[in-house]
Amino acid sequence: MAYPEGVKLAEPPPTETAETHDELLERQRLRESSARSYPRRLPVALVDARGCTVRDRQGNAYLDCLAGAGALALGHHHPVVVQAIRDALDAGAPLSTLDLPTPIRDRFVTQLFDVLPEHLRDGRILFCGPSGADAVEAAIKLARTATGRSGVLAFGGAYHGMTQGTLALTGRRSVKEPLGSLLPDVHHLPFPTMYRSPFGLEDARGAAARLVEWALTDDLSGIPAPAAVIAEPVQGEGGVHPMPAAFADAVRRATRAAEAVLIADEVQTGLGRTGELWASQAVDMEPDVLVLSKAIGGGLPLAVIVHRGTLDGWQPGAHAGTFRGSTLALAAGAATIKEVVSAGLVEHARDVGRRLTDGLLAVAAGDPRVGDVRGRGLMTGAELVDPSVVDADGVPVPDGWLAGRIQREMLRRGVIVEVGGTHDAVVRFLPPLVITAAEVDRVVDAFGAALRASRDEPR
Ligand SMILES: Cc1ncc(COP(=O)(O)O)c(C=O)c1O
Repeated sequence: MAYPEGVKLAEPPPTETAETHDELLERQRLRESSARSYPRRLPVALVDARGCTVRDRQGNAYLDCLAGAGALALGHHHPVVVQAIRDALDAGAPLSTLDLPTPIRDRFVTQLFDVLPEHLRDGRILFCGPSGADAVEAAIKLARTATGRSGVLAFGGAYHGMTQGTLALTGRRSVKEPLGSLLPDVHHLPFPTMYRSPFGLEDARGAAARLVEWALTDDLSGIPAPAAVIAEPVQGEGGVHPMPAAFADAVRRATRAAEAVLIADEVQTGLGRTGELWASQAVDMEPDVLVLSKAIGGGLPLAVIVHRGTLDGWQPGAHAGTFRGSTLALAAGAATIKEVVSAGLVEHARDVGRRLTDGLLAVAAGDPRVGDVRGRGLMTGAELVDPSVVDADGVPVPDGWLAGRIQREMLRRGVIVEVGGTHDAVVRFLPPLVITAAEVDRVVDAFGAALRASRDEPR
């Protein structure tokens, strides 16, 4: 496998530096907005990184299971990405060309189309502003323009971004409530989560599927036929919930019946993360629009939508923006797509993902505070619960405090993880796809040690 096993970090930086580790954190705290989020839970000032390892100003190394929130499929400084960026610079390629064609842009598009789900290979690509949120915005605009309708159906627990439009589609209420009205005509339906289902039923999948069918096709549902239904094939920020295949099938059938556009948001799941190249393909979702960002830029900012050609009813310039495909991101992205496929990293993600899940399950087996371990490939989550308090269905309530404690204890043991889901009670593992089996074992060990360390901890 051509990933940089054995790549070593340079010697630790000298301790006599202009700013110490704590000074960097403090200066950031004073100067940046209070919307600053990750450093509150992960107080590390990072200076260098290779592969799956990052190192802070004090020389502490961490296994990076955050990986730019999943953007770094090949980890940090993968040789093929570094080379692609160097080649573009050495060739004197123009760095920013709006949507004017360049050989590097053309190579990226060819590389991506070669690996797309079959039904989208003769579709169209639109380069968006370089964030997942802007690509979701574009997908909604496309669907509205193509159908002449305005409504959108989204799912509870969804995360689609932080713009006013994408926030309307997102599940988490606390980030929406201070803002008042957002994109109108958006309705949320329950996502078929099996652990802690909003239906409190054995057959949550069936119930969620029937509700989608009802909402889209029953004249009395109260919801005018929407322009689009948008869904993540595995919900990420919502707490790592894979979409069951039967649900995907029901959504596909119902959107066809209602002539609504089906949008798969694969910003986080795309390009091998879930142990399938495309998570929507694994459940036969056959989306009309695929939203992609994060991994496809090789760690640099890039976002696109790919859609059926029949939807392309836009006027020239209908979705524009300055940074629609920066050259370095296109070069890094093309190299990343090629490497993920040719180095067998999709299968690797499936294999080490199973090892991670099995390891976490083994740790959880002896500890009732781990309510659930779930995910696909290297998109894995462990939900922490308070076993002494159960809900009406007898399921222990989520324990966000404990998840935060585990996150801190894992950091102390050299592993960076994220939290998400209801009350942020799900510890999330999103490492680079190149993570080795030995590194996975270290992550599992750190999780077990963090659990033990937080036993009997006062709140
Ligand atoms: C599924 C999904 N959609 C959209 C977004 C938004 O992407 P960005 O943060 O680049 O705007 C994210 C970000 O995490 C995501 O996970």
